[in-house]
Amino acid sequence: MPALIAPSMLSADFGNLERDTNMVNNSAADWFHIDIMDGVFVPNISFGFPVLKSIQKHAQKPLDVHLMIVNPDQYLKSFADAGAAVISVHYEACTHLHRSLQAIKALNVKAGVAINPHTNISLLSDVIKDIDLVCIMSVNPGFGGQKFIEQTYAKVEVLKNLIIQNNATTLIEIDGGVDFNNARKLVDCGADVLVAGNTVFGHSNPTEAITQLKSITA
Ligand code: DX5
Ligand code: ZN
Repeated sequence: MPALIAPSMLSADFGNLERDTNMVNNSAADWFHIDIMDGVFVPNISFGFPVLKSIQKHAQKPLDVHLMIVNPDQYLKSFADAGAAVISVHYEACTHLHRSLQAIKALNVKAGVAINPHTNISLLSDVIKDIDLVCIMSVNPGFGGQKFIEQTYAKVEVLKNLIIQNNATTLIEIDGGVDFNNARKLVDCGADVLVAGNTVFGHSNPTEAITQLKSITA
């Protein structure tokens, strides 16, 4: 099965958000990846609810919201109300991760956990059955267009084994530095969803870039 492709709107042209949202609508992409950064958890600020709502107004595919923020619990309902289909909180930002996951599910939204490059997969073993999606960060979160960290392949394999051992249905998403060279290997290691910002929006033909990512992983 080809991977699900989730273009990261962080790399879209914010002056032409309707155009870029429609590009994704009319492409082979599966989800919109929405990066929310607070300038505290990560050293960058992206955008908040007004921009998210502008995307949501035109989006015809699920919104995959990646919260790079401290205290995510206080905003979960707002992101659900803004149309999120998946909300991922960071392992490193949640003191009570299990509680956060239950809170997301209570909103009828898929519950995701994103983990930084230094965070070991084994730390998820006691909650894996409660997680709908693990977002493995393959760069340090905060910016688009960074270099892919090679250690990611091994992490994907370890996570895949953990999911199988637990009879879980968790999806594996890869976020950061995904390109035409590493996409196939990531899927072969067990990835289900590939986020791509620069590879899509930095391409002269973003629609074609999405088609290529899709066919490379098929
Ligand atoms: C990084 C974000 C990513 C980023 C991916 O902090 O979470 O989603 O936008 O962009 P690329 O694909 O350019 O690395
Ligand atoms: Zn992201």
